[in-house]
Amino acid sequence: MIESKLSDRALPPLPAAQDPAAWERERTSMLDILQREEYGRMPAAPAGVTAELLERDDSFLANRAVCETITLSFVAEGREYSFPIRVITPKLRRKVPYFVTLSFREELFDRYLPLEEICMRGYGVAVVHYKSVAGDDDDFAAGLGPLAGDRTRPDAPGKIALWAYAASRTADYLLTRPECDAKNLAVIGHSRLGKTALLCGACDERFRFVISNDSGCSGAAITRGKVGESLGRITEVFPYWFCPGYRKYAEKETSLPFDQHWLLALIAPRHLLVGSAAEDLWADPASEYLACCAASPAWRIYGKSGLKHFDRLPVPGEACHAGTVGYHLRPGAHFMARTDWVRYMDYIQANRAK
Ligand code: GCU
Repeated sequence: MIESKLSDRALPPLPAAQDPAAWERERTSMLDILQREEYGRMPAAPAGVTAELLERDDSFLANRAVCETITLSFVAEGREYSFPIRVITPKLRRKVPYFVTLSFREELFDRYLPLEEICMRGYGVAVVHYKSVAGDDDDFAAGLGPLAGDRTRPDAPGKIALWAYAASRTADYLLTRPECDAKNLAVIGHSRLGKTALLCGACDERFRFVISNDSGCSGAAITRGKVGESLGRITEVFPYWFCPGYRKYAEKETSLPFDQHWLLALIAPRHLLVGSAAEDLWADPASEYLACCAASPAWRIYGKSGLKHFDRLPVPGEACHAGTVGYHLRPGAHFMARTDWVRYMDYIQANRAK
Protein backbone atom coordinates (compact mmCIF):
# COMPACT_ATOMS: atom_id res chain seq x y z
CA MET A 1 0.00 0.00 0.00
CA ILE A 2 2.80 2.43 0.86
CA GLU A 3 4.51 1.56 -2.45
CA SER A 4 1.40 2.46 -4.39
CA LYS A 5 0.83 5.65 -2.40
CA LEU A 6 4.39 6.67 -3.19
CA SER A 7 4.11 5.83 -6.85
CA ASP A 8 0.94 7.99 -7.03
CA ARG A 9 3.10 10.94 -5.99
CA ALA A 10 5.51 10.37 -8.93
CA LEU A 11 8.53 11.54 -6.94
CA PRO A 12 11.90 12.20 -8.52
CA PRO A 13 13.94 9.24 -7.26
CA LEU A 14 16.82 9.63 -4.86
CA PRO A 15 20.07 9.50 -6.82
CA ALA A 16 21.30 5.92 -7.11
CA ALA A 17 24.36 4.98 -5.06
CA GLN A 18 25.73 1.57 -4.13
CA ASP A 19 27.90 2.63 -1.24
CA PRO A 20 28.41 5.52 1.19
CA ALA A 21 31.24 7.10 -0.83
CA ALA A 22 29.09 7.24 -3.96
CA TRP A 23 26.12 8.52 -1.95
CA GLU A 24 28.21 11.25 -0.37
CA ARG A 25 29.12 12.56 -3.81
CA GLU A 26 25.43 12.59 -4.73
CA ARG A 27 24.61 14.17 -1.41
CA THR A 28 26.83 17.15 -2.19
CA SER A 29 24.98 17.83 -5.43
CA MET A 30 21.55 17.27 -3.81
CA LEU A 31 22.40 19.83 -1.15
CA ASP A 32 23.53 22.20 -3.84
CA ILE A 33 20.25 21.79 -5.76
CA LEU A 34 18.09 22.27 -2.66
CA GLN A 35 19.96 25.43 -1.74
CA ARG A 36 19.93 26.82 -5.26
CA GLU A 37 16.25 26.11 -5.90
CA GLU A 38 14.51 26.31 -2.53
CA TYR A 39 16.20 27.77 0.55
CA GLY A 40 19.02 29.77 -1.01
CA ARG A 41 22.75 29.43 -0.52
CA MET A 42 23.78 29.03 3.07
CA PRO A 43 26.49 31.62 3.90
CA ALA A 44 29.92 30.15 4.64
CA ALA A 45 30.62 29.31 8.27
CA PRO A 46 32.71 31.93 10.10
CA ALA A 47 36.21 31.13 11.40
CA GLY A 48 34.76 30.97 14.91
CA VAL A 49 32.21 32.47 17.29
CA THR A 50 32.84 34.44 20.45
CA ALA A 51 30.53 34.28 23.42
CA GLU A 52 29.84 37.05 25.89
CA LEU A 53 28.09 36.07 29.09
CA LEU A 54 25.45 38.67 29.98
CA GLU A 55 23.69 36.97 32.85
CA ARG A 56 24.04 33.79 34.84
CA ASP A 57 21.57 32.24 37.26
CA ASP A 58 23.19 29.45 39.24
CA SER A 59 20.06 28.48 41.09
CA PHE A 60 17.78 28.00 38.12
CA LEU A 61 15.02 25.36 38.37
CA ALA A 62 15.28 25.15 42.16
CA ASN A 63 19.06 25.03 42.03
CA ARG A 64 19.19 22.04 39.72
CA ALA A 65 20.32 23.90 36.59
CA VAL A 66 22.30 26.92 35.43
CA CYS A 67 20.74 29.44 33.07
CA GLU A 68 23.02 31.70 31.06
CA THR A 69 22.16 34.53 28.71
CA ILE A 70 24.90 34.79 26.12
CA THR A 71 25.58 36.93 23.07
CA LEU A 72 27.20 35.04 20.22
CA SER A 73 29.25 37.10 17.76
CA PHE A 74 31.08 36.22 14.59
CA VAL A 75 32.47 37.80 11.47
CA ALA A 76 31.09 36.66 8.15
CA GLU A 77 31.58 38.17 4.73
CA GLY A 78 33.50 41.08 6.23
CA ARG A 79 30.88 42.11 8.73
CA GLU A 80 30.26 41.47 12.40
CA TYR A 81 27.00 39.87 13.49
CA SER A 82 25.59 38.86 16.84
CA PHE A 83 22.49 37.32 18.36
CA PRO A 84 21.48 36.24 21.88
CA ILE A 85 20.91 32.71 23.12
CA ARG A 86 19.87 31.20 26.43
CA VAL A 87 21.69 28.10 27.63
CA ILE A 88 20.17 25.94 30.34
CA THR A 89 22.43 23.23 31.71
CA PRO A 90 21.39 20.70 34.34
CA LYS A 91 23.91 20.37 37.18
CA LEU A 92 25.23 16.88 36.55
CA ARG A 93 28.67 15.40 36.90
CA ARG A 94 28.68 14.13 33.35
CA LYS A 95 28.48 15.42 29.83
CA VAL A 96 25.15 16.81 28.72
CA PRO A 97 23.53 16.34 25.30
CA TYR A 98 22.06 19.69 24.21
CA PHE A 99 18.98 20.48 22.19
CA VAL A 100 19.46 23.53 19.99
CA THR A 101 15.85 24.68 20.22
CA LEU A 102 14.52 27.17 17.71
CA SER A 103 11.91 29.10 19.60
CA PHE A 104 8.96 31.29 18.62
CA ARG A 105 9.01 33.13 21.91
CA GLU A 106 11.54 35.30 23.62
CA GLU A 107 10.39 34.34 27.11
CA LEU A 108 12.06 31.26 28.46
CA PHE A 109 9.04 29.92 30.24
CA ASP A 110 6.95 28.83 27.39
CA ARG A 111 4.16 26.28 27.61
CA TYR A 112 5.54 24.61 24.49
CA LEU A 113 8.93 23.99 26.10
CA PRO A 114 8.77 21.70 29.17
CA LEU A 115 12.14 22.99 30.33
CA GLU A 116 12.15 21.47 33.78
CA GLU A 117 11.25 18.02 32.50
CA ILE A 118 13.86 18.20 29.73
CA CYS A 119 16.58 19.23 32.19
CA MET A 120 15.58 16.64 34.76
CA ARG A 121 15.98 13.97 32.11
CA GLY A 122 19.58 15.13 31.76
CA TYR A 123 19.45 17.29 28.64
CA GLY A 124 20.70 20.82 28.20
CA VAL A 125 18.79 23.33 26.10
CA ALA A 126 20.14 26.19 24.02
CA VAL A 127 17.22 28.40 23.08
CA VAL A 128 17.49 30.51 19.94
CA HIS A 129 14.61 32.97 19.62
CA TYR A 130 14.20 33.16 15.86
CA LYS A 131 13.18 36.81 15.61
CA SER A 132 16.28 37.78 17.59
CA VAL A 133 18.28 36.31 14.71
CA ALA A 134 16.33 37.92 11.86
CA GLY A 135 12.74 39.19 11.69
CA ASP A 136 10.00 37.03 10.25
CA ASP A 137 9.39 39.40 7.35
CA ASP A 138 10.95 40.62 4.13
CA ASP A 139 13.31 43.03 5.87
CA PHE A 140 16.86 41.84 5.30
CA ALA A 141 18.53 44.92 6.81
CA ALA A 142 18.43 43.97 10.51
CA GLY A 143 20.01 41.13 12.49
CA LEU A 144 21.63 38.49 10.29
CA GLY A 145 19.59 39.78 7.32
CA PRO A 146 22.51 41.34 5.40
CA LEU A 147 24.12 37.89 5.22
CA ALA A 148 21.53 37.12 2.55
CA GLY A 149 23.34 39.55 0.25
CA ASP A 150 21.54 40.69 -2.87
CA ARG A 151 17.97 39.35 -2.56
CA THR A 152 17.33 39.86 -6.27
CA ARG A 153 19.59 36.85 -6.90
CA PRO A 154 17.39 33.80 -7.52
CA ASP A 155 19.49 31.73 -5.09
CA ALA A 156 19.87 34.32 -2.31
CA PRO A 157 19.17 32.75 1.09
CA GLY A 158 15.81 33.34 2.69
CA LYS A 159 15.00 33.60 6.37
CA ILE A 160 14.81 29.83 6.93
CA ALA A 161 18.44 29.57 5.81
CA LEU A 162 19.46 32.43 8.12
CA TRP A 163 17.69 30.93 11.14
CA ALA A 164 19.30 27.56 10.33
CA TYR A 165 22.68 29.30 10.07
CA ALA A 166 22.17 30.73 13.58
CA ALA A 167 21.40 27.23 14.91
CA SER A 168 24.73 26.07 13.47
CA ARG A 169 26.56 28.99 15.09
CA THR A 170 24.95 27.93 18.36
CA ALA A 171 26.41 24.47 17.80
CA ASP A 172 29.84 26.08 17.16
CA TYR A 173 29.60 27.62 20.59
CA LEU A 174 28.14 24.64 22.47
CA LEU A 175 30.92 22.43 21.16
CA THR A 176 33.45 24.66 22.94
CA ARG A 177 31.81 23.96 26.31
CA PRO A 178 33.53 21.20 28.27
CA GLU A 179 30.24 19.73 29.54
CA CYS A 180 28.75 19.41 26.05
CA ASP A 181 28.23 15.83 24.88
CA ALA A 182 29.44 16.52 21.33
CA LYS A 183 28.26 13.17 20.00
CA ASN A 184 24.62 13.73 20.85
CA LEU A 185 23.73 17.20 19.69
CA ALA A 186 20.12 17.70 18.55
CA VAL A 187 18.38 20.47 16.63
CA ILE A 188 14.64 20.85 17.05
CA GLY A 189 11.89 23.17 15.84
CA HIS A 190 8.17 23.38 15.23
CA SER A 191 6.41 24.36 12.02
CA ARG A 192 8.42 27.08 10.19
CA LEU A 193 11.12 26.35 12.72
CA GLY A 194 10.76 22.63 11.98
CA LYS A 195 11.57 23.45 8.33
CA THR A 196 14.53 25.38 9.74
CA ALA A 197 15.69 22.46 11.91
CA LEU A 198 15.59 20.14 8.88
CA LEU A 199 17.64 22.48 6.72
CA CYS A 200 20.11 23.02 9.55
CA GLY A 201 20.47 19.28 10.15
CA ALA A 202 20.77 18.56 6.44
CA CYS A 203 23.66 21.03 6.10
CA ASP A 204 25.36 20.52 9.45
CA GLU A 205 26.50 16.96 10.12
CA ARG A 206 27.44 17.68 13.72
CA PHE A 207 23.81 17.15 14.71
CA ARG A 208 23.17 13.49 15.50
CA PHE A 209 19.42 14.11 15.97
CA VAL A 210 17.39 16.32 13.65
CA ILE A 211 13.82 16.89 14.81
CA SER A 212 10.94 18.35 12.85
CA ASN A 213 7.62 18.92 14.58
CA ASP A 214 4.66 19.64 12.25
CA SER A 215 6.94 21.26 9.65
CA GLY A 216 4.63 20.54 6.70
CA CYS A 217 4.98 22.35 3.39
CA SER A 218 8.59 22.83 2.27
CA GLY A 219 9.60 20.98 5.42
CA ALA A 220 9.06 17.27 6.01
CA ALA A 221 6.02 16.91 3.70
CA ILE A 222 6.24 15.77 0.11
CA THR A 223 5.22 18.64 -2.16
CA ARG A 224 3.75 16.61 -5.02
CA GLY A 225 0.15 15.68 -4.24
CA LYS A 226 0.24 17.41 -0.86
CA VAL A 227 -3.04 18.56 0.72
CA GLY A 228 -3.38 21.77 2.75
CA GLU A 229 -0.66 24.31 2.11
CA SER A 230 0.91 24.24 -1.35
CA LEU A 231 4.16 25.55 -2.78
CA GLY A 232 2.18 28.27 -4.59
CA ARG A 233 0.52 29.39 -1.41
CA ILE A 234 3.63 29.33 0.82
CA THR A 235 5.73 31.30 -1.67
CA GLU A 236 2.95 33.84 -2.05
CA VAL A 237 2.45 34.45 1.67
CA PHE A 238 6.02 33.85 2.90
CA PRO A 239 8.30 34.52 -0.10
CA TYR A 240 11.09 35.71 2.18
CA TRP A 241 11.44 32.31 3.87
CA PHE A 242 12.97 30.95 0.65
CA CYS A 243 15.26 31.98 -2.17
CA PRO A 244 13.47 34.18 -4.74
CA GLY A 245 13.79 31.48 -7.41
CA TYR A 246 11.61 28.98 -5.51
CA ARG A 247 8.48 30.85 -6.50
CA LYS A 248 8.90 29.80 -10.14
CA TYR A 249 7.63 26.34 -9.15
CA ALA A 250 4.27 27.69 -7.90
CA GLU A 251 1.56 25.52 -9.47
CA LYS A 252 4.38 23.69 -11.28
CA GLU A 253 5.37 21.26 -8.55
CA THR A 254 5.89 18.46 -11.03
CA SER A 255 8.79 20.33 -12.59
CA LEU A 256 10.73 20.53 -9.30
CA PRO A 257 14.00 18.61 -9.78
CA PHE A 258 13.61 17.19 -6.25
CA ASP A 259 11.00 16.72 -3.57
CA GLN A 260 11.22 17.08 0.19
CA HIS A 261 12.33 13.47 0.71
CA TRP A 262 15.67 14.69 -0.65
CA LEU A 263 16.00 17.09 2.26
CA LEU A 264 15.28 14.27 4.71
CA ALA A 265 17.68 11.89 2.93
CA LEU A 266 20.53 14.38 3.46
CA ILE A 267 20.31 13.62 7.19
CA ALA A 268 21.35 9.96 6.67
CA PRO A 269 23.04 8.14 8.34
CA ARG A 270 22.23 10.27 11.39
CA HIS A 271 18.83 10.22 13.14
CA LEU A 272 15.81 12.01 11.76
CA LEU A 273 12.68 12.40 13.87
CA VAL A 274 9.46 13.65 12.35
CA GLY A 275 6.39 14.35 14.45
CA SER A 276 2.97 15.15 12.99
CA ALA A 277 -0.36 16.10 14.56
CA ALA A 278 -3.43 14.27 13.29
CA GLU A 279 -5.62 17.37 12.88
CA ASP A 280 -2.89 19.38 11.17
CA LEU A 281 -4.14 18.97 7.62
CA TRP A 282 -2.45 22.21 6.58
CA ALA A 283 0.91 20.51 7.20
CA ASP A 284 -0.44 17.14 5.94
CA PRO A 285 0.71 14.27 8.19
CA ALA A 286 0.37 11.63 5.45
CA SER A 287 2.75 13.56 3.21
CA GLU A 288 5.22 13.82 6.10
CA TYR A 289 5.05 10.09 6.78
CA LEU A 290 5.42 9.22 3.09
CA ALA A 291 8.44 11.51 2.85
CA CYS A 292 10.10 9.54 5.65
CA CYS A 293 9.36 6.29 3.77
CA ALA A 294 10.69 7.72 0.50
CA ALA A 295 13.88 9.04 2.14
CA SER A 296 14.71 5.78 3.92
CA PRO A 297 16.72 4.12 1.11
CA ALA A 298 19.47 6.69 1.87
CA TRP A 299 19.93 5.07 5.30
CA ARG A 300 20.04 1.61 3.80
CA ILE A 301 23.14 2.59 1.81
CA TYR A 302 24.83 2.79 5.23
CA GLY A 303 23.36 -0.52 6.36
CA LYS A 304 20.82 1.27 8.57
CA SER A 305 17.09 0.79 8.55
CA GLY A 306 15.66 4.24 7.88
CA LEU A 307 11.99 4.32 8.96
CA LYS A 308 10.60 0.97 10.06
CA HIS A 309 7.07 1.66 8.96
CA PHE A 310 3.74 -0.07 8.52
CA ASP A 311 2.44 -0.94 5.09
CA ARG A 312 -0.32 1.61 5.68
CA LEU A 313 -0.68 5.11 7.05
CA PRO A 314 -0.38 5.39 10.84
CA VAL A 315 -3.39 6.12 13.04
CA PRO A 316 -3.33 8.86 15.71
CA GLY A 317 -1.25 7.82 18.69
CA GLU A 318 1.03 5.50 16.72
CA ALA A 319 4.79 5.84 16.48
CA CYS A 320 7.39 4.09 14.33
CA HIS A 321 10.42 4.58 16.53
CA ALA A 322 12.37 1.37 16.03
CA GLY A 323 14.56 2.56 13.13
CA THR A 324 17.17 5.25 12.41
CA VAL A 325 14.30 7.46 11.25
CA GLY A 326 11.46 7.95 13.70
CA TYR A 327 7.93 9.14 12.98
CA HIS A 328 4.95 9.67 15.28
CA LEU A 329 1.41 10.90 14.78
CA ARG A 330 0.05 12.67 17.85
CA PRO A 331 -3.71 13.12 18.16
CA GLY A 332 -4.70 16.80 18.12
CA ALA A 333 -3.79 20.10 16.53
CA HIS A 334 -0.75 21.98 15.25
CA PHE A 335 1.62 22.75 18.13
CA MET A 336 4.60 21.26 19.91
CA ALA A 337 3.06 19.34 22.76
CA ARG A 338 4.70 17.95 25.85
CA THR A 339 3.87 14.50 24.47
CA ASP A 340 5.90 15.32 21.34
CA TRP A 341 8.88 16.24 23.54
CA VAL A 342 8.49 13.03 25.52
CA ARG A 343 8.48 10.97 22.31
CA TYR A 344 11.62 12.72 21.08
CA MET A 345 13.44 12.30 24.39
CA ASP A 346 12.50 8.61 24.62
CA TYR A 347 13.83 8.07 21.11
CA ILE A 348 17.08 9.91 21.85
CA GLN A 349 17.57 7.96 25.06
CA ALA A 350 17.35 4.73 23.09
CA ASN A 351 19.63 5.93 20.28
CA ARG A 352 22.30 7.98 22.01
CA ALA A 353 25.92 7.52 21.01
CA LYS A 354 27.84 6.15 23.98
C1 GCU B 1 1.82 29.03 8.54
C2 GCU B 1 2.53 28.49 7.32
C3 GCU B 1 3.19 27.14 7.59
C4 GCU B 1 4.05 27.23 8.83
C5 GCU B 1 3.23 27.76 9.98
C6 GCU B 1 3.99 27.99 11.28
O1 GCU B 1 0.69 28.23 8.83
O2 GCU B 1 1.57 28.39 6.30
O3 GCU B 1 4.00 26.75 6.50
O4 GCU B 1 4.63 25.98 9.11
O5 GCU B 1 2.70 29.02 9.63
O6 GCU B 1 5.18 28.24 11.26
O7 GCU B 1 3.33 27.93 12.34
